[in-house]
Amino acid sequence: MNIKELAIKHNDYIIERRRFYHTIPELSHEEFKTTESLVKDLEEMGIEVTTFPDFTGLIGLIKGGKAGKTVALRADIDALPVEEKTGLSFASKNPGKMHACGHDAHMSMLLGAAKILVDLKSELEGNVKLIFQGAEEIAYGAKYIMEKGYLDDVDAVFGMHIWGTLDAPLISFESGDRMASCDIFKLKIKGSATHGSSPHLGKDAIVAAASIVMNMQTYASRMNDPLNPIVVTIGTINGGERFNIIADYVEMDGTTRTYSRETRNSLESDLRKIAEDTARALACEAELEYTYLTGPVINEYDKINQIAQNAAIKLYGEESLTKMEKIMGSEDFAYYMEKIPSFFGFLGTVNKEKGIKYTNHHAEFTVDEDVLHRGSALYAQFAMDFLKED
Ligand code: NI
Repeated sequence: MNIKELAIKHNDYIIERRRFYHTIPELSHEEFKTTESLVKDLEEMGIEVTTFPDFTGLIGLIKGGKAGKTVALRADIDALPVEEKTGLSFASKNPGKMHACGHDAHMSMLLGAAKILVDLKSELEGNVKLIFQGAEEIAYGAKYIMEKGYLDDVDAVFGMHIWGTLDAPLISFESGDRMASCDIFKLKIKGSATHGSSPHLGKDAIVAAASIVMNMQTYASRMNDPLNPIVVTIGTINGGERFNIIADYVEMDGTTRTYSRETRNSLESDLRKIAEDTARALACEAELEYTYLTGPVINEYDKINQIAQNAAIKLYGEESLTKMEKIMGSEDFAYYMEKIPSFFGFLGTVNKEKGIKYTNHHAEFTVDEDVLHRGSALYAQFAMDFLKED
């Protein structure tokens, strides 16, 4: 049997596993039951498993029949703090938690790929590492795995995301920019309080905060090249005690997104300057705390791009590939890409006839299960083909 046929052979298993993991969603850093079940699933296939001493998730290792390179296939395993409203028979059993980003689908696809690769073990010209990565939603897991050296022997990493704006069963395996960076910041604005009827006797932190918000939007529209997409969003603003007291303190939280590594490097100092100078002009003080989360996901390795695209064509024909606009959302897969030639693709799951139409992170998000075995085949085909290349 070829990979496509093997994926269909394992279809029932793949769907059964997806439903099982869907019932037990766990948040980032809490994926204990998920990890335990994944270890069991892989060990039942005779796959060697490495767990982490101080982190959830695991890495499985399939040793091929022939010597060669090592390729890694990655699925993320954490869920979101969302109350599920799908009404599915296998809906979340953990109140307030849901696999609303499709990471349940990713796990089942990679388990399916593991089955296929075990079937084809004797033909494998090298080793395959199966990364079941925790804490993607908070951009922790990929950084941990890279920094601890678990992928030091890996020559390429391949990952996919099931996508809620793309029609099933289309595949977006495109070169270039795919997902933006994501960094976060906190702004603390200090003024001094006085009676609201005599603002000149105090320093109004709310007015300073409002000006900072507006100047940051102006930075995005006036000081950044319009052809270079960036997002500066202030998502929270808190301050003040009473309607007639001038506020002495305001706190705000925000995020930045960009594809340009150069812009990413200058955003922190640019935003700090705007915050500090704007506050100073209004007799207040501003402090910016900036935290780097994850870089952009850019498919920039020509050879790897080609292997991924050819894998899809080989399995499902040219017509299976589609074009999807890049997105300002982010993925911590970027950490692998920064050090190892890697590829990240998207798998469409929208199927309006089946009522599957909600985007990732929505309380009614679900996936078209008929695409899952294709995901397994794509993982397996990429691994086989990459290992075959010189
Ligand atoms: Ni996700």
